[in-house]
Amino acid sequence: MSVVTIVGAGVIGISWARLFDAAGWEVRISDPRPDLGELVERELAGRPVTATADLVAAASGADFVQEAGPEQEEVKREIFATLAAHTRDDVVLASSSSSLLPSAIARGNPAADRIVVGHPFNPPELMPLVEVVPGPRTAATTVDRALEVYRGLGKSPIRLKKEIPGFVGNRLQKVFNEQAAHLVQQGVIDVPDLDHLVRASLGLRWAVTGPFESGVLGGGPAGMRHLVEHVGSQLAFDAGRPDPARTGEVLDAVEQAYGTGETAYAHLAARRDDRTRAVLEPLGWPDLPSQDTQGQ
Ligand SMILES: NC(=O)c1ccc[n+]([C@@H]2O[C@H](COP(=O)([O-])OP(=O)(O)OC[C@H]3O[C@@H](n4cnc5c(N)ncnc54)[C@H](O)[C@@H]3O)[C@@H](O)[C@H]2O)c1
Repeated sequence: MSVVTIVGAGVIGISWARLFDAAGWEVRISDPRPDLGELVERELAGRPVTATADLVAAASGADFVQEAGPEQEEVKREIFATLAAHTRDDVVLASSSSSLLPSAIARGNPAADRIVVGHPFNPPELMPLVEVVPGPRTAATTVDRALEVYRGLGKSPIRLKKEIPGFVGNRLQKVFNEQAAHLVQQGVIDVPDLDHLVRASLGLRWAVTGPFESGVLGGGPAGMRHLVEHVGSQLAFDAGRPDPARTGEVLDAVEQAYGTGETAYAHLAARRDDRTRAVLEPLGWPDLPSQDTQGQ
């Protein structure tokens, strides 16, 4: 049985653990948090997962590593230095980082050729995509192996051609979320209505076609060129940016709409998971080929 070491038992690490376990891997999870035992008992009940604060012990003998520790460059560099020293030289060391460059995580690391970002979307158990991001020193074999492992988990990974901060998903999300906050700050719409608007229009559309294909369809038989020249040409306004000094107002409104704490989180997470499961299969996941541009 292949062994995966998961580093970090937070929101993402626990979900990776369930996914690897379900795919038949032997799972080890490492985290210095004092409640690791209770957490694993609660979140991974009934699964044969080994949990330890000792990263060296967890990494030794691993066949693949999926790091999901704090999003801090310095902490990740330290974790990857330990991983480099205590894993075989054919083992891929993948980081779940949402935005940090693989070259920054691998700086000074003798195993930089084995380091790659494998960025999941939350929750990794359900979201099909993993963005695989190589740094300039990442070996092609590392990328190939990461893609193979993620496909084996039932994911639909995409390989980026080169690294960029935030990769692709979170760069798009950053622009979108900033505009959402700006509209709330401007008093144009409130938080629940903005979420409703996206779920009932753009979210549904993008789950089915993606923005470029939507553009093709929006232009009718003349295609996206027509849409850009016709409707698009009138969207020539400055979209503006949110005021960082007023971020607290937006966060207050979000907390008022959705609540905070364990009970609210559990309710929202269960609802999200139910809705996501309900649409995955009808939309063709996990088998829909991402390169299907000709309708074949
Ligand atoms: N939350 C998301 O939506 C999301 C999505 C995709 C990727 N990510 C990425 O996944 C990673 C983890 O994010 P998260 O949301 O699970 O964070 P989290 O705060 O829920 O969990 C981080 C865990 O790392 C542990 N930790 C701290 N120091 C450590 C160390 N030295 N070694 C091992 N573990 C250590 C903490 O105790 C904690 O349990 C980050 O890099 C983040 O960018 C997060």
